[in-house]
Amino acid sequence: MHNTAATPPDQHGPHGGDPFDPIAAALREHGYVVLPAPLPPSLLGALLRHFRSIDPGQFKRAGIGREDEHQLNRFVRGDEIFWLDRGNPAVQAYLSWMEELRLGLNRRLFLGLFDYECHYAYYDRGTFYKKHLDAFKGNTNRMVSTVLYLTPNWQPRDGGELLVYPPDSMAVAAEPLLKVAPRFGQMVIFLSEEFPHEVLTVNRPRYSVTGWFRVNNSLGDAIDPAR
Ligand code: OGA
Ligand code: MN
Repeated sequence: MHNTAATPPDQHGPHGGDPFDPIAAALREHGYVVLPAPLPPSLLGALLRHFRSIDPGQFKRAGIGREDEHQLNRFVRGDEIFWLDRGNPAVQAYLSWMEELRLGLNRRLFLGLFDYECHYAYYDRGTFYKKHLDAFKGNTNRMVSTVLYLTPNWQPRDGGELLVYPPDSMAVAAEPLLKVAPRFGQMVIFLSEEFPHEVLTVNRPRYSVTGWFRVNNSLGDAIDPAR
């Protein structure tokens, strides 16, 4: 298990090179990257304030599968989610940063990332998300997963770490490659089709923004639906 940190984009100086270079290089080499503090603290604070200002009734129990296969299963995942749009200024700033990242990754990795969808996720005490893949090869359009952690003052006893497993280990027991602490401001990025992952049981409310860069799989006139 090891951490692959890249230079946080907001901390590169005038001579520091392009902030997206190390992110793209890590994704190319490993397929995942952990960024300890890629976004400005003021933006993180504004996102958390917005998150907490939303009436809990607006959050939906997260399901598994998409569209018609959508089902709820508390034994698989127990988080509640709120899909984001540009309505809030902090979210707008976040989406602008992710748009820069999308373009930066496309320029370097030729992924053809087409758009980004994201939601807040709230894990109450006692909830988790069992080992899963965000995308199945050839069967989805989610290419790159991102999670930004927003729990203030996270401590190891709070749990809720993200375990990332090796490719092709979905159906077999395997040691995790990576254990990511859901520390305030930290972001993890990984290839959606490659890495099974799970969220360990949370001992204190856990806040995050989960999102996916997607490719456009539309055929003919069929509109490719989000979510
Ligand atoms: C997800 C997910 C990981 C995390 O929402 O699909 O795997 O650390 N989230 O929150
Ligand atoms: Mn996931």
